[in-house]
Amino acid sequence: MPDCAREVMPTVLITGASRGLGLEFARQYAELGWHVLSTCREPDRASALRELSERHPSMCLHALDVTQDKSVRSLAEVLDGTTIDVLLNNAGIAGRIDRQVTGRSGLSGWPRNHGDQPVRSATHG
Ligand SMILES: NC(=O)c1ccc[n+]([C@@H]2O[C@H](COP(=O)([O-])OP(=O)(O)OC[C@H]3O[C@@H](n4cnc5c(N)ncnc54)[C@H](OP(=O)(O)O)[C@@H]3O)[C@@H](O)[C@H]2O)c1
Repeated sequence: MPDCAREVMPTVLITGASRGLGLEFARQYAELGWHVLSTCREPDRASALRELSERHPSMCLHALDVTQDKSVRSLAEVLDGTTIDVLLNNAGIAGRIDRQVTGRSGLSGWPRNHGDQPVRSATHG
């Protein structure tokens, strides 16, 4: 097949890909053949994500703390010029499940992780 006829696979950037929903999204996109830019705060410690990336060469790991402007800016510089087709801005916390009672949810950290995130992403591209 000539190079020009090859299908160019799209790219997805997933925040919070070290576990939970983000890790599963990363796995499924990688298995579909997408280029997966997986992020979490400490890629060196994200063993499940690292194992996944070893099986999928089209996956890259990047450090990103969505609450830190410096971290967001740094990744924006690294990815400057990279086309991102889908952003899954998943990083954050859900709180302890036993505290998720209507009218009394235990999401004290939610505004810190989620409140500014869309603004940070838009600001830093
Ligand atoms: N699970 C549910 O039933 C449910 C329901 C509704 C909404 N959600 C939302 O879906 C998202 C994922 O939920 P989950 O259950 O998969 O959560 P999880 O298992 O706790 O995973 C959270 C992910 O976010 C990352 N993360 C946490 N703080 C971060 C920060 N400051 N900067 C960058 N990454 C950070 C963690 O990576 P590191 O700690 O390795 O950096 C981890 O990969 C959350 O936004 C949650 O609020 C989940």
